[in-house]
Amino acid sequence: MKRERGFASDNNAGVHPDILNALTNANNGHAIAYGNDEYTHAATKQIKSLFDIEPEVYFVLTGTGANVLGIHMMGGSFNSVICAETAHINVDECGAPEKFTGMKIISIPTSNGKLTVQCILPQMHGIGFEHHSQPKIVSITQPTEVGTLYSPSEIKLLADFAHANNMYLHMDGARISNAVAALNISIDEITRKPGVDILSFGGTKNGMMYGEAVLFFNQQLATNFKYFRKQGMQLGSKMRYIGAQFSAFFKDDLWLKNASHANKMALLLEQKVKSIPNVKITQKAQANGVFAIIPKKLIPKLQDEYFFYVWDEETGEVRWMCSFDTTKEDVSEFASLLENFMKQN
Ligand SMILES: Cc1ncc(COP(=O)(O)O)c(C=O)c1O
Repeated sequence: MKRERGFASDNNAGVHPDILNALTNANNGHAIAYGNDEYTHAATKQIKSLFDIEPEVYFVLTGTGANVLGIHMMGGSFNSVICAETAHINVDECGAPEKFTGMKIISIPTSNGKLTVQCILPQMHGIGFEHHSQPKIVSITQPTEVGTLYSPSEIKLLADFAHANNMYLHMDGARISNAVAALNISIDEITRKPGVDILSFGGTKNGMMYGEAVLFFNQQLATNFKYFRKQGMQLGSKMRYIGAQFSAFFKDDLWLKNASHANKMALLLEQKVKSIPNVKITQKAQANGVFAIIPKKLIPKLQDEYFFYVWDEETGEVRWMCSFDTTKEDVSEFASLLENFMKQN
């Protein structure tokens, strides 16, 4: 029996009722299209107020669009982007960054999804040599695709390194709310302050229907962004609905409540499954994902009941994601089912 909710992805979750209400409330009369409306203005102001120094804020439709357009603003087709091998821009955007920007992606294997200066250094060669793509961007994901977190000091080391080498630091924050909630510090302290130049700020994975924002802490990089957003097919005409959602997202800290709940459910899931024999947790659950190796033959059986994604086909590593609407009962039922399957097989 397939359950109502599973652990496949926070993208599979629905829309938080407060956000759905906000959409209904915004659905009243006409509003100027393409972002020149009161909802977009209000949400832009709210995002800016989260930072000591206001960023430039632009709303877009998808996380891939946010990443690709942000990266596009940081270099030219002769440049390269350095990221972790697991980065969404490397494995899950169907080559959109390469196609749209023309840049080369240099992906680095990591044990935990996190880049360090040491692992970037070997890529810093051929600088100024016309036969070589010129490294221009370091792109990190916070939290990473494997559910781990960068500390503010780790981000600062990467930003300082990038800036000292005439490069920029890009952050894919599709789940930045989960990082802010988990680290229990302000968003400013894990983005602008340590030196991020451009942030993709996600909404969809944390209770919104759709909508993301590109934030420019380095304001010079925003010059001409509005033209590229249009060319990049990310300028939504009925933008008021993104603005209305973001306003509801920030009202009474819904974004942090949703993210913190999802994180807690992931921790609970990790606690429940880690003592089951033959379950090997592969990453520390620091945000809303749990990664584990389980016997391969069990995967399809478990997927019949709760669909989820296999992360590594070779090792049998799987990914279980929690969402704002995951319940304790979902977690307990899933862990019991896993335990029973383990006993039977
Ligand atoms: C880390 C990360 N970045 C970006 C995205 C892209 O989002 P979208 O599917 O809206 O393009 C995702 C989506 O799952 C993601 O997990």
